[in-house]
Amino acid sequence: QTGLTALDYGFVNTASTQSEITYIDGEQGILRYRGFPIEQLAQHSTYLEVAWLLLYGSLPTADELGEFDERIRRHTLLHEDLKRFFSALPHTAHPMSVLSSAVSALSTFYEDSSDPHDLHDIELTMIRLLAKLPVIAAYAHKKSIGQAFLYPDNSLSFVDNFLRLNFGNMAEPYVIDPVLSKALDRLLILHEDHEQNASTSTVRLVGSTGANLYASISAGIQALSGPLHGGANEAVLQMLAQIRDSGEGVAKFVERVKRKEDGVKLMGFGHRVYKNYDPRARLVKESADEVLAGLGVNDQLLDLAKELEQIALEDDYFKERRLYPNVDFYTGVIYKAMGFPMRMFTVLFAIGRLPGWMAHWREMNLDPQTKIGRPQQLYVGEPERRYPGA
Ligand code: SDX
Repeated sequence: QTGLTALDYGFVNTASTQSEITYIDGEQGILRYRGFPIEQLAQHSTYLEVAWLLLYGSLPTADELGEFDERIRRHTLLHEDLKRFFSALPHTAHPMSVLSSAVSALSTFYEDSSDPHDLHDIELTMIRLLAKLPVIAAYAHKKSIGQAFLYPDNSLSFVDNFLRLNFGNMAEPYVIDPVLSKALDRLLILHEDHEQNASTSTVRLVGSTGANLYASISAGIQALSGPLHGGANEAVLQMLAQIRDSGEGVAKFVERVKRKEDGVKLMGFGHRVYKNYDPRARLVKESADEVLAGLGVNDQLLDLAKELEQIALEDDYFKERRLYPNVDFYTGVIYKAMGFPMRMFTVLFAIGRLPGWMAHWREMNLDPQTKIGRPQQLYVGEPERRYPGA
């Protein structure tokens, strides 16, 4: 009746209007965290340094970073009761479900100290989540493969502690692989933030109600798990394996995608904002050959992915729709080469994205203008009607 269309009703929500954290130019394929180009951060920085940058707006001094790293190391242990939480779940549970549930359960151990407006509480909760999310993730992995949980070793770096919890075991000492450490730290940087995507908007919306940070992150993890969002990195590997195992070949698969047969999509392609090559995908692709060679892995799926990209980028169907590889297209091949099972890929995305989620939650909760989010709708249902006999 108003002549307005659904497009006139955006996600009108004071929890998600402006932000100082991340800048994306989808036409140019530009991504900057607090003004720093992603290419420079991926090359020169570390996951924890970028986490500080996203949270506090500038690069930390050496002392600030050292203290930040030290505080995180001192919070890696989970409460022993929380460890028993995992035994209640089936080993077939998807690690993303375990992650979200465990983060929600984590809040019950600290409920009294997560006031969204108390700076001390926010800082302490952020340290706890940065420290414990990787441990919970590694325990979800160990649970799924029936192996014993290890205790964190805080003499190791953030990434090496995480790798040891995943790939170490009780029978022998874990040997650090510098290629693995550097590659994973770089991939985590590439995932740390991406403006107000679906999962970050979820974290902001939940946080805008006054819910605590644990609840907001738990919700963000669930939003990320969808195959159209973070779950795409797992879906890409399934897609590549299906093309390989079916013998259908890349060209025939692409034709099925163009016919939209059974809703099939070229997973890892397309983006709501990037109408050009996702700068993160470019960086991941550039490092894929180097990382796999460094790990001594030769995977036909990487060649398949490159062939798929080549055909798609030359095809008018994808060019007309401005569909390019996104961050999820090549990451799975590297995660697989690292030794992670497919169902852990989106968990790795979540660990990467945690600092961005928290930076947005903190920015919003510290802004006195923030009010509860309330998306508007355009009503297109029945006009008023009378109940029979009323
Ligand atoms: C992430 O927002 C973020 O920043 C997210 C993220 C982050 O860091 O947080 O970057 C992470 O989620 C990356 C995206 C991962 N998802 C996938 O790779 C799943 C496959 N991609 C698509 O589902 C899709 O491209 C989306 C969901 C990513 C974007 O969808 P849009 O913007 O709503 O695009 P659309 O569905 O309107 O598509 C426009 C056209 C349609 O064709 P027509 O109806 O015009 O004929 O392009 C087609 C779509 O069918 N299309 C695809 C396609 N993506 C879009 N066709 C085949 N394969 C695809 N992947």
